[in-house]
Order: sequence, then C-alpha cells, then structure tokens
Amino acid sequence: FNVPPARNEPIKNYAPGSPERESLQAALAEARSKQVDIPMFIGGKEVRTDNKSPLSPPHDHQHILGYFSNGDASHVSAAIDAAMAAKKDWANTSWENRASIFLKAAELIAGPYRDKLNAATMLGQSKNAYQAEIDSACEIVDFLRFNVQYMTEIYKQQPDSAPGIWNRVEQRPLEGFVFALTPFNFTAIAGNLPSAPAMMGNTVVWKPSNTQIYSANVLMEVFREAGVPDGVINLFFVDGPTAGEVIFEHKDFGGIHFTGSTGVFQHIWKTIGNNIYKYRSYPRIVGETGGKDFIMVHESSKAKEVATAISRGAFEFQGQKCSAASRAYIPSNLWEDVKNYVIEDLKSFKMGGTEDFSNFINAVIDEKSFDKIAKYIDDAKASDKVEVIAGGGYDKSKGYFIEPTVLLTTDPKYTTMCEEIFGPVITIYVYEPKDYEATLELVDNTSPYALTGALFSADRYALEVGIKALENSAGNFYINDKPTGAVVGQQPFGGARGSGTNDKAGSMINLLRWVSPRLIKETF
Ligand code: SER
Repeated sequence: FNVPPARNEPIKNYAPGSPERESLQAALAEARSKQVDIPMFIGGKEVRTDNKSPLSPPHDHQHILGYFSNGDASHVSAAIDAAMAAKKDWANTSWENRASIFLKAAELIAGPYRDKLNAATMLGQSKNAYQAEIDSACEIVDFLRFNVQYMTEIYKQQPDSAPGIWNRVEQRPLEGFVFALTPFNFTAIAGNLPSAPAMMGNTVVWKPSNTQIYSANVLMEVFREAGVPDGVINLFFVDGPTAGEVIFEHKDFGGIHFTGSTGVFQHIWKTIGNNIYKYRSYPRIVGETGGKDFIMVHESSKAKEVATAISRGAFEFQGQKCSAASRAYIPSNLWEDVKNYVIEDLKSFKMGGTEDFSNFINAVIDEKSFDKIAKYIDDAKASDKVEVIAGGGYDKSKGYFIEPTVLLTTDPKYTTMCEEIFGPVITIYVYEPKDYEATLELVDNTSPYALTGALFSADRYALEVGIKALENSAGNFYINDKPTGAVVGQQPFGGARGSGTNDKAGSMINLLRWVSPRLIKETF
C-alpha cells in the first residue's frame, strides 16, 4: 500500500508579467478564439445530437464559447447500460491500476491541463484567475491525490485474526451504478463527485450543471487521457427531471453523489424513498446542499480581521461558494470600525470580466440567479428594517454583474438573515456585547442549515462558550478566520442539518460510502 505521499498542490499567484500569467492569458485567448462543439461521452464514445445549446461567459453573454449537445432519456439509459457493462472489469481492476489512473489525472491537471482547466473555469463560470487556481485546478489535484491515499488506508484496515482463523475484509464497490450530480460553483467538486466513487471501483453516470459544462468537458478530456476505461465515467447533458426519472426508477441504482440545492436533494431523497422496493440494495445517498454561513464576533475581536473575513468570506467568487459568509453578528463596540474597513476593502474591489486579472468581482452565474439576487436586494431597499451599507447596484446588460452588497438589519430574523441567496450579499446584525450568549442562540436557530461558520474572539472564555453553543451550527467551523477556503487534506468539507449528509468531501468518510465491505472468515 505504498503510494506517493499526498501533498497539496502549490498555488500559483499569476503575478503581473510572470510567465505563468502569460501562459494562462494565452489559454484564455485560445479558448475565446474558437467555438467548441461539446459532446456527451457515453461508453467511451463521443455522442452529439442536433439539439444544441450555446455556452457564454456569464460576464459577457454576447460571446459564444461553444455549444453542447442536449440528450434525452435514451442517453441516460445508454449511460447506465455502459456503466453496468463496464462494471465487472472495473471492479476487478487492481487498486494499483485504479490509483494510477487517478494519480495520472492529478498530474495532467497540475501540469499540461492546468491553464486549459483554469481558463475554462474563468470563462465558463466567471471565476477570476486566483479563485480558479485555488478552487478548481489545485483543489481537484488535491482531491485526486488525497483520495488515492485515503483509499489505501481503507484497504489496509483489517480485523484481527487468530491461529487457525483468518478474518479479512474485502472492500467491494457498491452493486449497481453511482449517479454524480454536480454543481457549477467548483470545477473541483464537479471532478470529485464522479472520480471518488470511480476510484473505489464503481462505474458512474455523471450529469453536470448546465452552467459548468464548459469546464466539465475539460475534466472529461483529462479523465480520458489519464486512461479511465470506457464506460467507467459516462457524461451526459439531460435535464434533471428526465434524468431523474430514468435513474431513480432503475433497479441497478446504487447511490448518488450530489452537490447542489437543499430543495433538489430533498426531492431526490423522497423519490428514492418512493422507489425503494425497486432496488437491489439500499442506495447510498451522499449530498452537500445549501448553507446560510455565519460570522459571529465577540467584543474582544480585532475589527480589521473581522472586516477582512467579511469582505473575502462573503464576496470571493461573488458569494457563490457554498461556504460563503452571508450573515454576520457584530458587537456594537466594533461596528463602526468594521463597517469602515469593509467599505474601504470594497472600494478596492474592481468588477468586470475574468480576462482582466485586476477584477476581483466577476459576474454571477446566470440570469435566473441574477434575477433572484436582485429581488432580494430590491426587497431590502424597500424594507424599513434594512439599510444598504455598501453596493446594492446591479446590471445585466453585458454580463450578470451585481455589486458586493452589505445590508444592515435591525431584525435578526429578516429574510436575508435566514434564506440562502447564493450571491454577493451579506446581512449584518449589530448586537449589544452583554447579549453575547443570547446572540449565539440566535446564530444557532436562525437558519435550517449547518454548513460553515466562523467565530471571532480574542477571549478564551468567550470562545469556549461559543464553540459549545454552536456545536451543531456548522460542519466546518472556523475560529478567527473566514468560513471559506477549506483545503483538501486539511479541512475535510461538509455540513449537517439542511446542509447535507456531512460525509466530508476529500476524506476517508466519503470514500467509505462507495464500498460495501465483505467480511471473509476462513478457518484452517
Ligand atoms: N472548499 C470550498 C470552501 O471551503 C467549499 O467546497 O470554500
């Protein structure tokens, strides 16, 4: 069980004039200069249809990056058939060969495909170069390397035996196929959701979000070049209800690896429950869903550090990280300073397309999302419980641009304190320092989610009280830091309550969901 030790991929900083920046700019120019015709990939074959949809950068919706082929129910069935046909050989492929394919995929992304994948994420999802580098290229490399290591740790764990008795565990893949349903916001998550079950010997059908297809296509290219055998990962572009109908009715449905909204996940769970008698096994249901991530601040904190956590934690990638801070509780003694520092930070945040590396804020993902966020902002402007402290503007004439927006409310249960917005909006509630413990309770019971949260305090006693009071409020809990930016291998990621099954992406816990152990006792 000797594999290369997993290490986090070093992050490039794309400094002005650096060769790495030039090379990424060349990849962007190349991508912008042509239109790709993106196929589905089923059973080792590219599949195109006449029903094509265009893909545009969210920050420049006049430009067309290419087209993808829309499939229908027959393509979902074909993907399942291909996965089932490939299943036996893949399950019987040695772990070394499976590991080596995914280690190769990691090296391809760390090396020759890095610029192409980053450029695709920058153009397709409007994520700036630094965020693409961290959240997409490096994170998928880390997922692949660390998962290979966790996989070997799983295979290594064996029960005790005794003279004359040999007990052993065989970690077989699940019966049936696994469905990966992946989000737009992290190219890395889109890559991890199919590759983690595949690494453990499962075959997978993969439906990416329509708004991430441009970079999903590059990931698929990498998987192919790394040597993932035909039928092991099958990619299709079919609308959710149609895909769901075929998949969740299928007797060989073995599990789902999901990241997306709470509503969709709950609907899926219910559908699986309704179909439970049709399946051969209880399907594994693994999902990371919504969040209403918080920053809770004690009066002993440093205003500048809190302000940085707010401006980075709420506004990187336009607040579209599942971990993004979207509500903050600030003690009145710090509020003026925090406010001024945040306003100062926001003045330095330029907004525009990702091709210009000096733009910190880019566009939100699509029109539906833009309209939803704009409505929250309009309602807040009209409310007598809310004051707009910064931002509040939006414009979709060229791209889906929304200013980073800070709202201050007098009502700790105001809509934007409770509901997930998934955009560049944070709402602040200012409390009296004497109400620290009551405010902790408020943090805990204001939303149905428990994904990420941050607690700031320079006072150990206050920290102790806060850590305990918020023990169920966040699956990833940060002390004196922003609640975003979990690093694979260091902060395994996932939330509880309405935020998911908390099977920690990039961990042994997650990989264990993709195996069904057989205990063998042999007597001599
Ligand atoms: N890794 C991301 C973050 O912590 C979430 O997937 O922001």
